[in-house]
Amino acid sequence: MAVKEICVWKALILVLFIFAVGGQRSGPSFMVTFPAVIESGSNAKLCASLLKPNESLAMTVFLLDDQNRTTQLVQQRSSTEFHRCFTFQAPQVDGESVQKLKVVVQGSNFKMTEERKVMFRRYLPLTFIQTDKPIYNPGQTGEL
Ligand SMILES: *[C@@H]1O[C@H](CO)[C@@H](O)[C@H](O)[C@H]1NC(C)=O
Ligand SMILES: *[C@@H]1O[C@H](CO)[C@@H](O)[C@H](O)[C@H]1NC(C)=O
Repeated sequence: MAVKEICVWKALILVLFIFAVGGQRSGPSFMVTFPAVIESGSNAKLCASLLKPNESLAMTVFLLDDQNRTTQLVQQRSSTEFHRCFTFQAPQVDGESVQKLKVVVQGSNFKMTEERKVMFRRYLPLTFIQTDKPIYNPGQTGEL
């Protein structure tokens, strides 16, 4: 059973959204990765890379909920390449909620924006391998 649980966990971790923007080979681009499905209220991880900045750029990641209400999750300004991971508090949702992560990279006279969907779910199968959470029996995790 332990093996099966680890497989589920791996499958979820592999479902990452990556976005790379800024078609021009020479221009700036960015990449943001986060799990496609995130447990409601958990501490979620998001990694962001800024590539080939040609000036000081501000990268901001927002969460847009289903009412288009915007929450700023992280902001980082840099004129050099960086790769950083951040944690943010996932919103509390009932059942499941599909929201959007919006990334804005802003320079002094240009702006790149990209959005990707993210799902928040009350219970994830991986809940039971998190050590800081109560243990759920396999029967309970599928109750949605
Ligand atoms: C940086 O690159 C972007 C996109 O190619 C361009 O619009 C912007 O003018 C450039 N900034 C500088 C300071 O060259
Ligand atoms: C949120 O914004 C999108 C795109 O602008 C729009 O299509 C959608 O109807 C909006 N949803 C709500 C609930 O305002």
